[in-house]
Amino acid sequence: MSKDPLLQPYQLKHLTLKNRIMITSHEPAYPEDGMPKERYRAYHETRARAGVALTMTAGSAAVSRNSPPAFNNILAYKDEVVPWIRELTDACHDHGCAVMIQLTHLGRRTGWNKGDWLPSVSSTMAQEPAHRFFPKLVEDWDIARIIQDYADAAERMKEGGMDGVELEAYGHLMDQFWSPATNHLDGPYGGETLENRMRFSLEVIDAIRKRVGEDFILGIRFTADEAMKGGITAEEGLEIGRRLKATGQIDFLNVIRGHIDTDAALTDVIPVQGMRNAPHLDFAGTVRREIGLPTFHAAKIPDVATARHAIAEGLLDMVGMTRAHMADPLIVRKISEMREEDIRPCVGATYCLDRIYQGGEALCIHNPATGRELTMPHEISPASIKKKVVVVGAGPAGMEAARVASERGHDVVVFEAAPDAGGQVRLTAQSERRREMISIIDWRMDQCLARNVRFNFNTYAEESDVMFENPDAVIVATGGLPHTELLSEGNDLVVSAWDIISCDVKPGRQVLVFDDAGDHAALQAAEMIAKTGAHVEIMTPDRSFSPEVMGMNLVPYMRALQDKDVRFTVTYRLKAARRTGNLMTAVIGTDYSSFTEERDFDQIIVNHATVPLDELYFELKPRSKNLGAVNQEALIFGRPQPLEANPDGDFALYRIGDAVSARNTHAAIYDALRLVKDI
Ligand SMILES: Cc1cc2nc3c(=O)[nH]c(=O)nc-3n(C[C@H](O)[C@H](O)[C@H](O)COP(=O)(O)O)c2cc1C
Ligand code: SF4
Repeated sequence: MSKDPLLQPYQLKHLTLKNRIMITSHEPAYPEDGMPKERYRAYHETRARAGVALTMTAGSAAVSRNSPPAFNNILAYKDEVVPWIRELTDACHDHGCAVMIQLTHLGRRTGWNKGDWLPSVSSTMAQEPAHRFFPKLVEDWDIARIIQDYADAAERMKEGGMDGVELEAYGHLMDQFWSPATNHLDGPYGGETLENRMRFSLEVIDAIRKRVGEDFILGIRFTADEAMKGGITAEEGLEIGRRLKATGQIDFLNVIRGHIDTDAALTDVIPVQGMRNAPHLDFAGTVRREIGLPTFHAAKIPDVATARHAIAEGLLDMVGMTRAHMADPLIVRKISEMREEDIRPCVGATYCLDRIYQGGEALCIHNPATGRELTMPHEISPASIKKKVVVVGAGPAGMEAARVASERGHDVVVFEAAPDAGGQVRLTAQSERRREMISIIDWRMDQCLARNVRFNFNTYAEESDVMFENPDAVIVATGGLPHTELLSEGNDLVVSAWDIISCDVKPGRQVLVFDDAGDHAALQAAEMIAKTGAHVEIMTPDRSFSPEVMGMNLVPYMRALQDKDVRFTVTYRLKAARRTGNLMTAVIGTDYSSFTEERDFDQIIVNHATVPLDELYFELKPRSKNLGAVNQEALIFGRPQPLEANPDGDFALYRIGDAVSARNTHAAIYDALRLVKDI
């Protein structure tokens, strides 16, 4: 038996957890009609099969109708949820994985304009900034009903075969009652005393216990320190922990430190890339020591070494590796097989979490099979016939193509014009804050080298280079070049955001960054310029700036920019540029009227995405069997591509990533996986 602390079993009441690694509750927004159906089940079952000991399903499954789903949550208040839960728990139990679910009432952390259009309720009428809505102050009859709603929902989960339930008490209704900052009630549930502020949650716990009995596992994920002025202090948080324990009805604590009422606060609870790893681990250890209940915790513990330390040092009983499992569901299997170096690293990009609000589903920036378990593989199956595959370009798309082709067992050759792999990702990772992004490339490089992929760097591949390899398949992943041809006059005067990020162009002193692509590049360039002390104006024709950067990803930029000489201008469009002496005159208009104005800068930068580098593709196209065509049905449903367009052709030809059109890292990698997995 392994001596690895992470692989030791843990006894939680009657339940034996087979190792110390868990997935904490996280709603990937995959429910359909509020129910965890096939997609949901496949997502958890994949991770259960690979050995995780406990998966905490849902995230904020709603117990009441007036806790409408903020991001497509499971509707635990509906009886019809039970059979879906049963299928989910059966599927995970088949692999020896324990399954629990997080239940909650979101309180003010949701809106009224979804679900049944009921007003949200809270112990305060104050708006939660992140969700903007204004709740109704909860009344006695709301409280009585919500307590019963919790008990009903817990009973449904027990009936569905769950091993236990976790109550959510950070940023939601329970701790809205607890916190002096958000409890504005008088009487038995409000006021000065902690006894009053905890009354609601203790009554909920009581009601659930009465309903589910002594044997069912009941835990709570709670903020033991809101880390904000006027909120729950660490001292009070520990006292809350003691009182929860004193009920004799709570089986585990899952420790949170911080508050989540703004995106900025949320990133301190769930740190994104560039922020410290495991920032609250020692605090969780303190809670474990002081309270003495089984203790779980997750907050940017992306690597096995830190997780092992957390268990070996007795800081935690179960360590949460949640986003790490979104990036690689096979973590536990790879640890057991002594293949830790094969684990696909979570790079903290938090594309996953940001997308539950903006994209309607969690997706991993560099694992496109996550959330697509029904069509995309996490493990690549070997091909029946070994082929010669040539990949041109070693950016994220090309590296994924090379990885997948080599895992299929093919003979793979990569051509890359630059001296290193990585393309735009390598440039992005030059910023200290986004350094973790390079693991997207490094992991693929290691996987490729382990399978003898041949790399030809500093080689601008021409048709003859490709043909010399006598390929069966050619993947053109040549990316794109910054697009700066957008003005009616003066295109030659502007530089691109990528010129700044790559340090090819020195920042000016009085700089306009015009951004109509809305992605990271503009902000990243602006941050680099602002750091030099220059004045930067970021201008967008949209009604909000950087729409593709999304909530949590925006936080580090704002923290880096707002104390510098930076201004944001929305709803204006750069039309033209002219040289005026040593300066440049920007002609600025708007999409809303014929208004124009002229202003001077010493540098004008544009972020207008990239134009595909597609010359090689078009040269190769007539010689290919498929004439470059992609059958979209086959692509979408994960079937092999037909190759009948040109029977005289020599090879299959595909173009992927930004070489097709400017998109993002996830799109580039998804292009590669879904085509190459069937070559
Ligand atoms: C897509 C997504 C949704 C989440 N939703 C919830 C939620 O509903 N409830 C909750 O307690 N935590 C939620 N979390 C937070 C995770 O449980 C976890 O605390 C967080 O991801 C930090 O752990 P990690 O660094 O191991 O990922 C969510 C996380 C992600 C990525
Ligand atoms: S999107 Fe980023 S943070 Fe989220 S799982 Fe993938 S690598 Fe990790």
